[in-house]
Amino acid sequence: MAQQGIRVGIIGAGWPGGKHAEGYKAAGGFQLVAVADLIPARRRKLMADFAMGREYADANALLTDVQVDAVSVCLPNALHLPVVLAALKAGKHVICETPPALNAGEAKKLAAAAAKAGKVLLYACQRRFGGAEQATRLTIDKGYVGDAYHARASWMRTRGIPAGTGWYTDKSKAGGGAMMDLGVQMLDLAWHLLGQPRPTSAYAIFNQRYRGALPPETPYDVEDAGFALLKFEGDKSLELSASWAINQPPREHGTKCQIYAEKGAIVVYSPQGPLLYRGFNPGGEAKETPLKTPKIVHYHAMMRHFKECIAGTATPVPGPSEGLVLMQMLDAIYKSAGSGKSVEIRSSDVGGEKVPEVASDAAT
Ligand SMILES: NC(=O)c1ccc[n+]([C@@H]2O[C@H](COP(=O)([O-])OP(=O)(O)OC[C@H]3O[C@@H](n4cnc5c(N)ncnc54)[C@H](O)[C@@H]3O)[C@@H](O)[C@H]2O)c1
Repeated sequence: MAQQGIRVGIIGAGWPGGKHAEGYKAAGGFQLVAVADLIPARRRKLMADFAMGREYADANALLTDVQVDAVSVCLPNALHLPVVLAALKAGKHVICETPPALNAGEAKKLAAAAAKAGKVLLYACQRRFGGAEQATRLTIDKGYVGDAYHARASWMRTRGIPAGTGWYTDKSKAGGGAMMDLGVQMLDLAWHLLGQPRPTSAYAIFNQRYRGALPPETPYDVEDAGFALLKFEGDKSLELSASWAINQPPREHGTKCQIYAEKGAIVVYSPQGPLLYRGFNPGGEAKETPLKTPKIVHYHAMMRHFKECIAGTATPVPGPSEGLVLMQMLDAIYKSAGSGKSVEIRSSDVGGEKVPEVASDAAT
């Protein structure tokens, strides 16, 4: 293994499966050996693109392959729990697509299984690994803006309900809609940039207005837009928005993330790249400084981190405990949107780490 690199299997050969494969190739130190997908054309394409030798139709068949050290789980959300549990049990290191699971209960089981197996479990929250995002985190870490206490993060598609292989709009298979799909990415990024404070409450409103855009036989029991306000310890807060379809000025289509801090502000996404604002005068004017972005970004950076985790020189972030907190926050968001009330997020001990838990009774 040391000479050939870490032998990797890709489970689920849709768009993310291909991106993971590109990341492994760019990071080096990996050998792409096997792919599993129910759709022959998808696995054959990945095999051809990345010179992979072995193919399996089903995820579990690949997990019996003893010549595989690590797997990327790029399957529909409802399959994350069973396949990641089976992969850890089979002694594989795992990188799992987002959202980590359908809910916090599942994420808790995954955290316990990773601890028991002593294997790496990394969640593929790819927004943390982008150039603008890494530059923003570094700027905050260096203390250039002081305490970052509020974030506004959104991923608003004007039109873009995902099709996938037919599960995205089915709550039993996806866990939720736009908030679970796009919101989780921006939630993870903003929480990370705020320093991963402990969440204390969530309030959310959901819309479902685009059912008519899909054929009537398509399951559609999820939100196509969601808006949430989260509170954290240390007087920190986050405004989060996600939409698959909404009427908005077309230029608003896409991602936004702004950090508000004691001594300045950062705009993560702008046509000029990430921008730092400091030295505010009484009139509200400030000096604008473009931030330098790193060379190793996106899936290349993510797989480099995965390699370091497997080597034991880094701890997976976002790993099992972050995945659990993300799902706790999403549970609270969904519960609030359902009840119309603010939902408290309480602490509890899981695997020796302090993590929050959604209160069983909604507080107003
Ligand atoms: N990080 C991101 O930006 C990003 C982007 C897209 C999707 N995702 C996530 O990636 C995951 C997959 O999404 P997708 O868009 O590729 O979905 P998809 O429906 O397009 O693809 C899923 C694939 O899994 C295969 N599959 C299903 N059951 C299987 C089984 N038992 N064994 C082997 N293969 C099986 C299907 O044949 C299909 O090719 C989801 O969790 C999604 O949320 C993340």
